[in-house]
Amino acid sequence: MKILFLDQSGKPGGAELCLLDIAKPYRHDALVGLFADGSFKHLLQQNSIPVEVLTTQAIQVRKESSLIQGLKSLGQLTPLITKVVKKAHEYDLIYANTQKALVVGAIASFLSHRPLVYHLHDILSPEHFSQTNIHIAVNLANNFASLIIANSQASKAAFMQAGGRPNIIEVVYNGFEPKIYQNHQSDINKLQQHLGLQGKFIVGHFSRLAPWKGQHILIAALAQSLQEVTAILVGDALFGEQDYVQQLHQQVTELGLENRVKFLGFRSDIPQLMAACDLVAHTSTSPEPFGRVIVEAMLCGKPVVAAKAGGAMELIEHGLNGFLVTPGEPQELAQVITTCLQETEITASIANNASITASERFDIATINQQIAQLLKSVLDISRN
Ligand code: UDP
Ligand code: GLC
Repeated sequence: MKILFLDQSGKPGGAELCLLDIAKPYRHDALVGLFADGSFKHLLQQNSIPVEVLTTQAIQVRKESSLIQGLKSLGQLTPLITKVVKKAHEYDLIYANTQKALVVGAIASFLSHRPLVYHLHDILSPEHFSQTNIHIAVNLANNFASLIIANSQASKAAFMQAGGRPNIIEVVYNGFEPKIYQNHQSDINKLQQHLGLQGKFIVGHFSRLAPWKGQHILIAALAQSLQEVTAILVGDALFGEQDYVQQLHQQVTELGLENRVKFLGFRSDIPQLMAACDLVAHTSTSPEPFGRVIVEAMLCGKPVVAAKAGGAMELIEHGLNGFLVTPGEPQELAQVITTCLQETEITASIANNASITASERFDIATINQQIAQLLKSVLDISRN
């Protein structure tokens, strides 16, 4: 099957890392078309997945854009759409992995007579997007997509709540390669030593720095935790959230936590860093559509505490394979941190359950089979 994947980002966010795993089995006959240059292109190249940057001109639509701004950007898209239509003729199917890719992919699908699949990685609710953005995404998906793959029941529910057609949407969770998340104790010790964190209780936060990812909640919780609790914040402001980065540093200074919070920036050694933690915290203040970091922590055999909303609630059963806390409540988070620090046996057994359930539920081989079947049925229908 020849697939033209489209993604608007030059940087490797969760949707892009998910696409990397989905595109791998098709690499001999696929192309990933990006709407921006950057490190995601290099990641695809390292994995021998053909990639082409189709435009380097920024598309001026943001999550909160109005209709007028949206329409203005359509004109700007014409050269990109023309290019995609031409390419699409060489492929069997167009696979749009982001919202701007959906806009371009929908028009290209119509003009090239190639079926369109949309991978929905977002919760299309007013907490995350403007009404205009939601309206455009739902209408394009309803009218042009043969299939929508939602990354969670939460993303599917929000899509239908916004008027999306229920008969074209299927939930497929992100897949992972469990063995990547297994680490040796000697390497873990070395990394802890290298980070100067030996003997500390390390809480890891793994996410791009953005207000809704809630790093400020973890910092506030730290101020209410025992002295030995230290946090590592792994991730960078991928989409220009520099003000938030400043605020986080200021918060750390104001609370006198300079020695207990380390900003490590964007890293490629996530499994190793997670293994070096005693607890992984997910603190999104708006519902997380899926939450790759939650599953990754589970696969590393680490206890994980997540904000109780969106996809996170499909990944964790509180007290069985992780902990769920009210989003935006540092005190509750601080209590879980203390429990994990003090109740080591129960916490270890919860983490062990998590690693077993996660490797069963999210194995990339099974997930890719599900996707292959879905894509095959799209092609079968489009050819009849
Ligand atoms: N990640 C990474 N390096 C970092 C921080 C995060 O590779 O420094 C990865 C992380 O392991 C996860 C992804 O980025 O696989 C983030 O995906 P998630 O679904 O958690 O959130 P998103 O940013 O997509 O909303
Ligand atoms: C998006 C979502 C995140 C999800 C990822 C992969 O980036 O924000 O929750 O895990 O896509 O589906």
